[in-house]
Amino acid sequence: MAPPKVFKNFINGEWVDSVTGERFENRNPADRKELIGLFPKSGPEDVERAVASAKEAYKSWRLVPAPKRGEILFRAAQLLVERKEDYALDMTREMGKILTETRGDVQEAIDMTFYMAGEGRRQFGQTTPSELPNKFCMTVRSPIGVCSLITPWNFPMAIPSWKAMPALICGNTVVMKPATDTPLSMCHLVEVFEQAGIPPGVVNYVTGTGSGVGTPMMTHPEVRVVSFTGSTEVGRHVSKACAETFKHSCLEMGGKNVILVMEDANLDLAVDGALWGGFGTTGQRCTAASRVVVDKKVYQDFVSRFVARARTLKVGNGLDPSVQMGPLINESQLNSVEQYVEIGKQEGASLLTGGSRLSGGEYDCGWFYAPTIFGDCHPRMRIAQEEIFGPVVSVIPCDGLDEAIEIGNGVIYGLSSAIYTQDVNNAFKTMREMETGIVYVNASTIGAETHLPFGGTKQTGNGHREAATAALDFYSEWKSLYIDYSGKLQRAQIDT
Ligand code: UN1
Repeated sequence: MAPPKVFKNFINGEWVDSVTGERFENRNPADRKELIGLFPKSGPEDVERAVASAKEAYKSWRLVPAPKRGEILFRAAQLLVERKEDYALDMTREMGKILTETRGDVQEAIDMTFYMAGEGRRQFGQTTPSELPNKFCMTVRSPIGVCSLITPWNFPMAIPSWKAMPALICGNTVVMKPATDTPLSMCHLVEVFEQAGIPPGVVNYVTGTGSGVGTPMMTHPEVRVVSFTGSTEVGRHVSKACAETFKHSCLEMGGKNVILVMEDANLDLAVDGALWGGFGTTGQRCTAASRVVVDKKVYQDFVSRFVARARTLKVGNGLDPSVQMGPLINESQLNSVEQYVEIGKQEGASLLTGGSRLSGGEYDCGWFYAPTIFGDCHPRMRIAQEEIFGPVVSVIPCDGLDEAIEIGNGVIYGLSSAIYTQDVNNAFKTMREMETGIVYVNASTIGAETHLPFGGTKQTGNGHREAATAALDFYSEWKSLYIDYSGKLQRAQIDT
């Protein structure tokens, strides 16, 4: 048997082992026998080196004209286009989601990279009149410094790109950490940066655990910005760690997203949306449609069609083109899903389909769970309140739009929501009333595009948005410039 492939960190433009030389395994969640490779189990000393190199590189990177920084990003995007299929195949092997979705993940990275490359020529500020004569006022965006990017396993290349591309185009340098379940996809992204000509130290990549690598990345005094995507629980720790030295933090956290199905909905479309939103990425998206609130008048009809379709979903290895849903990412996610299903049963929800781990044949080698639907859920049940991050959907009956909106908003999260209706008034009311950062009409809760702001309200976020020009606002600071050419002392804010 060939020895396992050994991967390294990328610090100051070089591929290096961790200081201790320790490693961890990355295995395929659809086939635990497959060892993808060994990655450095890094610690605070490795973060120290990465931050020092990012700090040094910042001195010159911040002065590279933004359009030139954009050219490097443009080359990176072209390389991603060339390698899309290989990177998608590797992503399915390490993360488990089906190939069409991993192609979509790489495509999101491509889209974000081209988009931010273009933003190199559009870092507009303002010019504005002064209140005093012969004085000129304008604003420019300034980079901030070293950014720590802490990323999740569910979008292993897209989410790192959402963070790295705007950070870099604004002139910051970055230290990136992948989730321990998906270090290979970020490694591919780093290879692309290297080959596109990113200067040494501008992009650093350190693999390891949250406590070993993530914590020093968010407490290091030289780090100015932290961007984190993950659970609300961990996000709270990140926020507290950042408060100590007032690092800027962008937190993208949990969701309990909802689809509202009104009595006039096109039910075929609504069922398609509930399937895609609930079971796409095996329900492991922060935008997953884990609740469906259905008007009682069409409840039975909707539920019977939804359950029938969920039963036909083919679960298996995402490399097989006929498979529609892959495994869960790891054993602890599987255990958590199993616990929530028990909770749902104890709470008295009706288990309509699924509700068990899949076994036999290839299923015994991976973390497979059946698409699961609970019906007759009460909105206050834990399965209808808490983020499960697995293929479990809670269907909740309701009486009309107002009650649907109230139920929809009755959670601590506020990422994404959707309504299926043919009534334009219902649609507009829902767009206004839903306390979520994203609202879809006649489309599911997932599938945000890179040039619109991405993020949520309440305990989903901390007020920032990723993607779009909103990301430029996070990764730069305004500098206000006053140029007085009057040749004499002029005093503002003096009442003469
Ligand atoms: C996430 O699950 O963390 O809108 C992000 C979507 C994807 C991104 C999901 N574009 O579902």
